Amino acid sequence: MNILVIGGGGREHTLAWKLAQSPSATKLYAIPGNPGMAAVAECVSGISIEDNEAVVAFAEEHAIDLAVIGPEVPLTNGIVDAFEAAGILAFGPRKAAAELEGSKAFSKGLMKKYGIPTAKYEVFTDAEAAKDYVRQEGAPIVIKADGLAAGKGVIVAETCDEALAAVADIMEDQEFGAAGNRVVIEEFMEGEEASLLCFTDGETIVPMISSQDHKRAYDGDKGPNTGGMGTYAPAPVMTPAMIEATKEKILKPVIAAMKQEGRTYQGCLYAGLMITKDGPKVVEFNARFGDPETQVVLPLLKSDLVDIMVACAKGDGSLKDLDIAWSDGAAVCVVLASGGYPKSYRKGYEITGLDEAEKLGCHVFHAGTAERDGSVVTAGGRVLGVVAEAADVRAAVDKAYQGVNVIDFKDKMFRHDIAHRALERQS
Ligand code: AMP
Ligand code: GLY
Repeated sequence: MNILVIGGGGREHTLAWKLAQSPSATKLYAIPGNPGMAAVAECVSGISIEDNEAVVAFAEEHAIDLAVIGPEVPLTNGIVDAFEAAGILAFGPRKAAAELEGSKAFSKGLMKKYGIPTAKYEVFTDAEAAKDYVRQEGAPIVIKADGLAAGKGVIVAETCDEALAAVADIMEDQEFGAAGNRVVIEEFMEGEEASLLCFTDGETIVPMISSQDHKRAYDGDKGPNTGGMGTYAPAPVMTPAMIEATKEKILKPVIAAMKQEGRTYQGCLYAGLMITKDGPKVVEFNARFGDPETQVVLPLLKSDLVDIMVACAKGDGSLKDLDIAWSDGAAVCVVLASGGYPKSYRKGYEITGLDEAEKLGCHVFHAGTAERDGSVVTAGGRVLGVVAEAADVRAAVDKAYQGVNVIDFKDKMFRHDIAHRALERQS
């Protein structure tokens, strides 16, 4: 099969790396891809992944059999619908189903209608009404821009003043642009967070191995929210009972609800969870693989990813007959970021030590890199994900940090405590 991966971050590098291991993958392309992905895929520049027509035209010219969409923006732009109209199989939800991530107001409304556990909330289009609600509810409270804001449009306010300032930043000063025309204000949920991704064909759901992201920029979960500074899998907080509860109370009901609403959901559904004293509750749904969750989940998948994706995309009922197996071990991903991320940072610095890290047995997934005069340079906030697999989390952490230590670039920044929650539970 000829396979096209859409996107060029760490998640897409991992997807391409895993897809390339399938005996069914004859040729892989990536738009735009990145220097790391070039080892397994032909990277195509000059086509915007937000231009559905151009992407589909490329796929037709190159006889693509399966398109795999990484990021949320093409999904909410309807790229899967465009592939489908051209008769090309595509892994990911259609536009109407991707609303589950594209609009927090939609997803919260759906959860309320179908009784899926999540935080209590209200939606506002008027800043004064939003501020009144904050004053009435008090802190801690959570303020979210409604649209897509690259994981940064959420403020967990500890005080009322902080919450009021967040409303003003989002609604009056448009800090996240049009994504802030509506805000969702939510009850603060206390607990430990975890992610459970699943494959689905719209009917059957197959949970992946659980994982945990580290969204704050600095050690000890301090500092601003980022797209994710590191992950590990599996997450011990997701005990077999908790996974079962998530499946029965969240994943199955939401997939059934989407079908009921005429928005059949196929692809990967990402449930961001808070494990509260009352059980798992939804923090958010994403219509795609997580980044950097993918970097730890897919290395632990023992089955053929192409077969799974084809079954999900076809929606012909074959997913339920696949035998999908996971490794018993653990994986850890440490993100190497550019100093200053998630705020302003410089790029264009040469990266050394990539081969040495691979020699130590790590997988180095590229996120924000570029090629310049034959060397790899930094080109984004999150630059690399250094991933190690081992028999347990402790060993995977040690191996990943060995990889981290041999890679260097100016202003290299990373968290030193990835997987601390799992390690604390072990000790
Ligand atoms: P989101 O983009 O919705 O995943 O939110 C980003 C982060 O904000 C989450 O990973 C949580 O750490 C935090 N967060 C979001 N909503 C809540 C909530 N209702 N209660 C507590 N923390 C939250
Ligand atoms: N790691 C969080 C996300 O992909 O949204």
